[in-house]
Amino acid sequence: MTVAITSDNLGEDIMPDTHRVTIGTDTKLHVAEGQSILDAALRANAWMPHSCTQGTCGTCKLKVLRGEVDHGASPEYTLTTAERADGLALGCMATPRSDLIVETLGVVDDGVPHHPLRDYTATVTELADIAANTRRLVVELDDDLTFNAGQYCELLIPGTTVGRQYSMASPPCDARQLEFHVKLTPGGLATDGWIFSSLKVGDAISLRGPLGQFNLVHEQTEPAILIGGGTGLAPLKSIVRHALEHALVPELFLYHGGRRQEDLYDVEYFTELSQQHNNFHYRPALSEEAWEGATGMVTDVVVADFTSCKGMSAYLCGPPAMVEAAVKSLKRRRMAPRKIFREEFTVAAKPL
Ligand SMILES: Cc1cc2nc3c(=O)[nH]c(=O)nc-3n(C[C@H](O)[C@H](O)[C@H](O)COP(=O)(O)OP(=O)(O)OC[C@H]3O[C@@H](n4cnc5c(N)ncnc54)[C@H](O)[C@@H]3O)c2cc1C
Ligand code: FES
Repeated sequence: MTVAITSDNLGEDIMPDTHRVTIGTDTKLHVAEGQSILDAALRANAWMPHSCTQGTCGTCKLKVLRGEVDHGASPEYTLTTAERADGLALGCMATPRSDLIVETLGVVDDGVPHHPLRDYTATVTELADIAANTRRLVVELDDDLTFNAGQYCELLIPGTTVGRQYSMASPPCDARQLEFHVKLTPGGLATDGWIFSSLKVGDAISLRGPLGQFNLVHEQTEPAILIGGGTGLAPLKSIVRHALEHALVPELFLYHGGRRQEDLYDVEYFTELSQQHNNFHYRPALSEEAWEGATGMVTDVVVADFTSCKGMSAYLCGPPAMVEAAVKSLKRRRMAPRKIFREEFTVAAKPL
């Protein structure tokens, strides 16, 4: 249980099996035994920078000024032994061992609204194969979920306490019905072991959300390039639908990269959308098959299409290698680094 309390009653209202955590100067929380600091903060609608919520990105690093934490399964590659000795911790993995005073290290972006993290139950209403080893999963929630276009939810694998992250492909105006795009990971717990094997329409699933800070920038006055690799298209679909519906971006260029035609999906949907909106351009690209469309690595196709990306911004999503390649390409084309927003589909760290 997490309760956001003010400094006035902190200390008088001591709850069993909780620790008092102070973040910065004015956020004070009760964090339950075994609960991560990030989970408690987001449930209390106290924003903390974060991205993957599984210990792999380091965005949620914080400094423990007083008290002791359990680092849980924080991997060494994200939080080194030296950093631990220096009092650093990952907000998404660390649980308090005592009352704490901490400060966040990442930048808190106040330009977008933040929505409290909550648990939901949902019913699967659609589960369809849409591309090679790729499924569309649509669920109906038991309550409205408020989120920003680009954010994700964590789906709980039945019979475990393990969750996996999947980005909403549906726009925020669909508060009860969420669409996800899921790629099969051979041997993967959530995909091979559940979504591509036993999950079926009518099943009840548990999830928590919204999570992540991959959002459409609030006042986006410049044209945007969106590049998705595989199911990295999911949050971009949400962003495109939201941006077009509310006329939030002057011009949008959506690139979707795959190896072969069988990897592409929603081609008709985006083609029609581009015919309906003069300011929306859609360009799928294939790296291993010649066809009538763009051929080559999606990042090379972008470089060939733009002689300069100065004065533009970008939203990149997909496997880390693709995202890295896209960042390099856009910088080569003179896009300002602070205008490049990214979501990497990192794989969960193996249990210690
Ligand atoms: C912010 C974010 C958003 C995401 N959004 C999406 C999305 O919209 N769509 C999407 O398709 N994916 C998305 N992902 C990726 C997704 O969360 C999962 O990582 C992916 O689906 C694989 O999960 P899994 O449980 O099937 O595989 P895992 O069980 O995590 O396995 C991954 C790999 O590790 C191997 N492995 C696992 N455990 C062990 C072990 N103990 N020893 C040795 N090898 C092991 C597996 O064999 C497999 O090759 C996102 C990830 C992040 C971080
Ligand atoms: S390491 Fe905590 S959010 Fe990524």
